[in-house]
Amino acid sequence: MKKTILTGIRPTGNLHFGHYFGATRNWVKLQDEYECFFEIADVQALTDNFQNPEKVRKNVYELTLDLLSVGIDPKKAHLFIQSKIPEIAELTVFYSNLVTMARLYRNPTVKTEIAQKKALFGNDGESVTYGFVGYPVSQAADITALGGTLVPVGEDQLPLIEQCREIVRKFNSIYGVTLQEPEHLLSPTPRIKGLDGKEKMGKSLGNALYLNDSKEVVKEKIMNAVTDPSKIKKDDPANPDICMVYYYHKLINNPNLETVCKECKNGTRGCVACKKELIDKIEEFLTPIREKRKYYEEHFDEVKEILEEGSNEARNRAKETMKKVKASMKIDY
Ligand code: TRP
Ligand code: SF4
Repeated sequence: MKKTILTGIRPTGNLHFGHYFGATRNWVKLQDEYECFFEIADVQALTDNFQNPEKVRKNVYELTLDLLSVGIDPKKAHLFIQSKIPEIAELTVFYSNLVTMARLYRNPTVKTEIAQKKALFGNDGESVTYGFVGYPVSQAADITALGGTLVPVGEDQLPLIEQCREIVRKFNSIYGVTLQEPEHLLSPTPRIKGLDGKEKMGKSLGNALYLNDSKEVVKEKIMNAVTDPSKIKKDDPANPDICMVYYYHKLINNPNLETVCKECKNGTRGCVACKKELIDKIEEFLTPIREKRKYYEEHFDEVKEILEEGSNEARNRAKETMKKVKASMKIDY
């Protein structure tokens, strides 16, 4: 029997190169091998953005368009909206008894995120909500309600999977073996660096290249990307390993990569020409993605149908799980 994959993404912005090369490119491959549920985690996005419901709603559709345009195939995988599955919320309530507050505060992912919020808003953490601290519980419900046994994630999400496993073990030990412990599937590509050379590409960091950036925007961003700062003149030799332009040449799989490297090192390549070559390669890469996006933008009814069908399928699965869960918990009245 095929294993079931469940993974999710928060609808807070468009897909950028970091998401694509770090995660969703791999999702496209996984849909051939496994039964896949890909969740647009709108409820989870609201834990951070409850004051911005319009932003979350808009990005549910934006993200769906992005995912379809990179090759998530509704014939192979189920694409669904978290809030369309009320069973997930119900399961979250049941799980909340199985997790201590201390354990949630100790979750390294939650801890880091709370620290970031404090640094950002300068408060003492008083404004951290119950919903936010509890999102690992809700994520455990996402995974198990859908019967996910394999969860493709990046390194930063590992503590959440571990916490899910703990909840499952506790549930099974109290109410009898009902649920299966999921396993993580680490992304084969580590995190993707930003245009500024920072370790992570992120929307809030302002260093991201988006899959739906226009030709003009791509050009401007690449022209401003960080190169080897010691290279002043066109024919100065430089070190490609500290240059973001070279880094993206590698990502995009330029067949000319070796030449780029050699010419950079021996000073026969100017940065402007090198950037122009990269822009062309990125355009080649983005062209079919843009075409697919345009198709779905023009056939938006189809997009809505895809989400409806995916969500129905996900809901049926979640209902099956809840039957078992409620029987085990003796609340199957
Ligand atoms: N927390 C994940 C993120 O921020 C998104 C997510 C929601 C998820 N539900 C999930 C990931 C279930 C894996 C499994 O990227
Ligand atoms: Fe970077 Fe290319 Fe300039 Fe070398 S020539 S520093 S790889 S942009």
